[in-house]
Amino acid sequence: MDEDTPEGATPPGDGRGDAATDPAAPRTDGGTERADEPTEDVALDPWGSASVGDYADLFAEFGIEAFDEVDDDVPDPHYLMRRGVIFGHREYDAVAEAMANDEPFAALSGFMPTGDPHIGHKLVFDELIWHQRQGGDVFGLIADLEAHAARGMSWDEIDEHARSYLLSLLALGFDPEDGELYRQSDNRAVQDLGFELGAKANFSEFEAIYGFDGETNVSHMQSVITQTADILYPQLVDEPKPTVIPVGPDQDPHVRLTRDLATRVRYFKVTEAFASFELDDDERRLVRAAYDALAARDGDGDAEETDTAETDVRCEDAAEWLADYEPPESDRESVDLAAAKATALDKLRAGGKEPLRPRVRFFDRNATDEAFEALIEAVEGEKRVFEGHVDAFDLTRGEAESVAREVEIDHDGFGFRQPSSIYHRFMTGLTGGKMSSSIPASHISLLDDPEDGYDKVKAATTGGRDTAEEQRELGGEADECPVYELYAYLLAGDDDELTKEVYAECVNGERLCGGCKEQAAELMREFLEDHQEKRAEAEALLDDLDIDLDSDRRGTGGEH
Ligand code: TRP
Ligand code: SF4
Repeated sequence: MDEDTPEGATPPGDGRGDAATDPAAPRTDGGTERADEPTEDVALDPWGSASVGDYADLFAEFGIEAFDEVDDDVPDPHYLMRRGVIFGHREYDAVAEAMANDEPFAALSGFMPTGDPHIGHKLVFDELIWHQRQGGDVFGLIADLEAHAARGMSWDEIDEHARSYLLSLLALGFDPEDGELYRQSDNRAVQDLGFELGAKANFSEFEAIYGFDGETNVSHMQSVITQTADILYPQLVDEPKPTVIPVGPDQDPHVRLTRDLATRVRYFKVTEAFASFELDDDERRLVRAAYDALAARDGDGDAEETDTAETDVRCEDAAEWLADYEPPESDRESVDLAAAKATALDKLRAGGKEPLRPRVRFFDRNATDEAFEALIEAVEGEKRVFEGHVDAFDLTRGEAESVAREVEIDHDGFGFRQPSSIYHRFMTGLTGGKMSSSIPASHISLLDDPEDGYDKVKAATTGGRDTAEEQRELGGEADECPVYELYAYLLAGDDDELTKEVYAECVNGERLCGGCKEQAAELMREFLEDHQEKRAEAEALLDDLDIDLDSDRRGTGGEH
């Protein structure tokens, strides 16, 4: 910990994500609701107001994982990652790994052109640009169908806003030669993909995920399926690859649905099995433990060798072993192992004398007969072919996944990987509460006059005390301060020293709000001036791109 950091305070950039797990830990994210306050219901609604009561709940409720568990794997992490602004992810490890190994990966995000781009969108623009600089194939899209169907935006408004989003994205450094920008309505491949994916989704599911009902307009539903196609599009244009979708957590329902659909369209499902019967993940852990123990006892005691060696372990032996087995503490956490043990025991007992042998199993999920035949051909080593599935004894799980994907792609399938995602925290409004585009003083548009930007920061709510005296004595509450948040999310840029300094000086009582806001307001003015100059320069670049910002579409759209 820095020497000048007061006791108990965590400088920003350290202890990332602590607040998510330890309610007593100081928040370094600046001003999101405190973890120890009663939380609102967690609801992730893509079309609702973007507020999250407690980010920690998202981990438990929806299976979003804490970002600090992967950020060590990320080469040279972005400042939003270092500062815990990006707090959660789904399977980002796949993307981090590809990045570290110079393998292909992609990033994609989309923007609904309902208003002017603001500093919240800048987070996502920056995330896309960073992934592009890290070597990814990066896509930015204008969600014009969604804006028209779900928000009733007219095509003229959409054109105008789309232009503005793209200018900011380019001004911040997106390289359109290297990446792709498109609008949903113009992308035939996305429409076609959406149509395919829609064949695997149904209305009940939309009801459950999005709360859609009989009043929901059909084009709104179509815009959802279009978004799932957007998310998989990077894998369509080239080859299946790890893809990250940087978004706010309100978009997680779309990510979850897309991860599901990506699996549902696959030709084959690859699992691991030990005998003719199926096992779920927990049962499999237990059966593996039994198998490893018995095979080691059986063979020369070298468990490494047992995977391929013929052993004489039978289901009933494994049942006997498992009956007395107590799984290690570390294995018991999230899982109801007692239930899994009971069902695994049933299956093993029913297996009787059937030998237990590890294998990978390919299920035919959507394959054509030809593709299934080709798969059988492609499986190397010992295999057994059944009605609807093939067992392979000499392939690892990873090898099996590759074979399955190759055969699928050769036979007109998509071979998608499940997309990954990262989630950033929402910024607090400058007036406290939510940042909302309907309250101009609460947010800063990237188009705001730099002087207005300056004024809004000067007028912002702070985490300061009532009097200067109190502030010197108690220190300010940087964790509750929208101004501190501006430094961390935007104004300090890559300069961690500045965020640490502001934080430490604030909580120490060395920094008073007047001066702190003056500094922030000046930085904001400079940022807006600079950004707007770059936007002007980007005009020419944008006009050269193959993207139609003057659509001749007709119609008035819908709202629900
Ligand atoms: N639904 C997103 C929004 O409301 C926009 C969007 C459309 C999007 N397609 C996407 C976001 C694909 C991420 C990925 O802003
Ligand atoms: Fe916020 Fe700065 Fe005041 Fe601290 S000193 S409460 S960071 S405005």
